[in-house]
Amino acid sequence: MKHDFSGDDGATEERIRNIHKDVWIECPQAGRIINSIIALSQVPKRTTAPCMLVYGDGGSGKTAIVNQFKKMNRGLGSPFAFLSLAENPNNLNYKQLILESLGVPMRLAEKRGMLSQEVAGFIQSREIRVLVIDEFHDLLLVPRNEQLKNLSLQKGLSGDPFNLSVIGFGTRAAKNALSSDVQLNRRYHTVELKPWGINHDFRNFLATLEKKVSLKNDSLLYQEDMVRLIHYHSKGLMDNVLRIVKSAAIYAVITGEERITKELIEKAVLDPWGYKSMK
Ligand SMILES: Nc1ncnc2c1ncn2[C@@H]1O[C@H](COP(=O)(O)OP(=O)(O)O)[C@@H](O)[C@H]1O
Ligand SMILES: [Mg+2]
Repeated sequence: MKHDFSGDDGATEERIRNIHKDVWIECPQAGRIINSIIALSQVPKRTTAPCMLVYGDGGSGKTAIVNQFKKMNRGLGSPFAFLSLAENPNNLNYKQLILESLGVPMRLAEKRGMLSQEVAGFIQSREIRVLVIDEFHDLLLVPRNEQLKNLSLQKGLSGDPFNLSVIGFGTRAAKNALSSDVQLNRRYHTVELKPWGINHDFRNFLATLEKKVSLKNDSLLYQEDMVRLIHYHSKGLMDNVLRIVKSAAIYAVITGEERITKELIEKAVLDPWGYKSMK
């Protein structure tokens, strides 16, 4: 049994770590969503700010898009504030979480009432236009009375005097919950983040991903049989595609093959973490 790849000064370990690192690969679907959100953030202030819900399966790439906005935020003039409902270590209520993500000082946040006039003034002075909420479904998958409270807070945020555009990223459950409320349903434009199809965009994506894993030989992942094999095993889900190709790339490094083959893809599917036991 072998646990490290000694004898090469840790160069192999280093390559494996690099393969594991998250990368961002531009692709048309995410690009369209990003452009729409930027357009929406530039709408002049109006009574009812436009909102958007991006929904897709777990692993479809939602958080990765949110992270792109975190990177772009300053360059765009910092109109975005961010909130992930999955991260709530202090068990704050929804209103407190929002205020915290907007950077509202405690003395304003503690005021009674939904969201005070002073809070609105603060948001305006910071020129925050858009609140991005990841794991948006968490807000809606709660008992009915709490859901109604959250939905009404939601309406409050996008109306006067806050006029914040809310961009939610969540599962289909979020979309279904929103459609149960006529007003919100009208306010929210919904976009689905779909799985890959077997097409030009997917081939391009695989070609770029192949470059990112930096093997010494060409794998030609964009060729038809490779595309089909990866699509078959991943069902087109972004997260699966990344995991399969990365694991296969690591096997390619360790076996010295230095190219992703069909056999290594099958191996990555069956035993994605088995590479430490390889000779
Ligand atoms: N455009 C992209 N380029 C490269 N990797 C991506 C891209 N979009 C998503 N990923 C990767 O796919 C995986 C799942 O994405 P994630 O954003 O966590 O999905 P979700 O939030 O929908 O569950 C992550 O490892 C992420 O880094
Ligand atoms: Mg996510």
